[in-house]
Amino acid sequence: MNKLSTESYKGVRDFYPEDKFVQEYIFGKMRKVVEAFGYEEYDASILEPTDLYRAKSGEELINEQVYNFEDRGGRDVTLRPEMTPTLARMVAKKKRDLGFPLRWYSIPNFFRYERPQKGRLREFWQLNADVFGVEGIEAEVEIITMSYKIMRELGAVEKDFIIKINDRDFINFFLTDFNLSEEEKYKVTKIFDRKNKTEVSKFENEIEEILGDKSNVFLNKISELENAEGKTPADIKNLMEKLEKAGITNVVFDPFLMRGLDYYTGIVFEVFDTNPDNNRAMFGGGRYDRLLEIFDGEKVPAFGFGMGDVTALEFLKSRDLIPEYISLTDLYLCILDEKYTEFTDDLAQALRAQDINVVVDYSYKKIDKQLKNADKKKVPFVICIGENEVKNDKFVLKRMVDGKEFEVSRGEIKTVIEKI
Ligand code: HAM
Repeated sequence: MNKLSTESYKGVRDFYPEDKFVQEYIFGKMRKVVEAFGYEEYDASILEPTDLYRAKSGEELINEQVYNFEDRGGRDVTLRPEMTPTLARMVAKKKRDLGFPLRWYSIPNFFRYERPQKGRLREFWQLNADVFGVEGIEAEVEIITMSYKIMRELGAVEKDFIIKINDRDFINFFLTDFNLSEEEKYKVTKIFDRKNKTEVSKFENEIEEILGDKSNVFLNKISELENAEGKTPADIKNLMEKLEKAGITNVVFDPFLMRGLDYYTGIVFEVFDTNPDNNRAMFGGGRYDRLLEIFDGEKVPAFGFGMGDVTALEFLKSRDLIPEYISLTDLYLCILDEKYTEFTDDLAQALRAQDINVVVDYSYKKIDKQLKNADKKKVPFVICIGENEVKNDKFVLKRMVDGKEFEVSRGEIKTVIEKI
């Protein structure tokens, strides 16, 4: 028989306990920040009908990136590549019963068929935080403030990242002078979206194909905005001022920022790592006031963002901000001989009843092997059970970081573990 490979499917993730620990650390920071702003957690299935993404997520996602299949009943099903359409569906479904403004968050995993590379995989988790029912700029301020705070909670200082903002309406406004069809306008936004990944000459050629000899005028106008202070559009300026008041000063206006997804209608933003080796968008979001229209025709103002765990992890690695693994187990019990097992189990049960997390070895290997395993698993305390312990009900509690030993009675174990 051919032996099976231990490799996972290309681009998806195995989480060994130490990896899961880091991921949970990142999720913990995300939760802490969004919950401080009153966001409630929701969740949904990983499977959705493919039509959900056909509506407004954009050609790239639907044509190149979704994992879809036909189920046994002939339905076209997709492994979710993002949460926003699901969220919009859920909100639209219960719109009459839900209270607005509505603030929800979730940390689901997604699948996208992409070429695996640094910061981009085929499976990733993503914090989604979205607010519905706020028409004004307060939603933008709140969401961008939250993303800023998550970065700070993760240990970033302001110069480690930059928040780029733009308004999608804005490029459309500029294009009104050029007599373009809706399709041509759409194409221009897509070319803008790819700008950072495209060579300058290719970018210019693509724009010229659509705008003809007016393309230079157009590009000059946009660049002027980028470079001339005072020409920043009023809504962006307003937003930047409000963010500055909240103490957030690493914000810039980028008239070329588009974001790939089709449903965005107004202000969009993206957070970039300032490290030149990792110069890509870490996460982003935007306003999508018209997405709910795909369900029942009524619009509900919405603004939100998605922050991926892969880019967050790359960021933490590059800044040496990964926390050291800490075991959730408090105490490791080694057994010196099989005949002490019952006693050890009783002790373990008594301690667990006091909310101490206890693991028992049961390997009956030599004591140094058991201690080595306790160390490998980073359990902070060890007690070995042998003849003396059973006879006297007194124990030597060893602290693994420095090898210091404490003589304790059964009743003192909890206090010593918790206090020192
Ligand atoms: P997105 O720009 O497609 O937006 O993804 C947001 C973030 O998810 C990215 O910036 C990145 O951190 C992460 N991400 C996306 N694709 C991958 C991948 N292949 N590998 C690793 N990480 C990835 C959205 O998904 C919107 N639904 C976000 C949103 C929520 N807008 C409003 N509310």
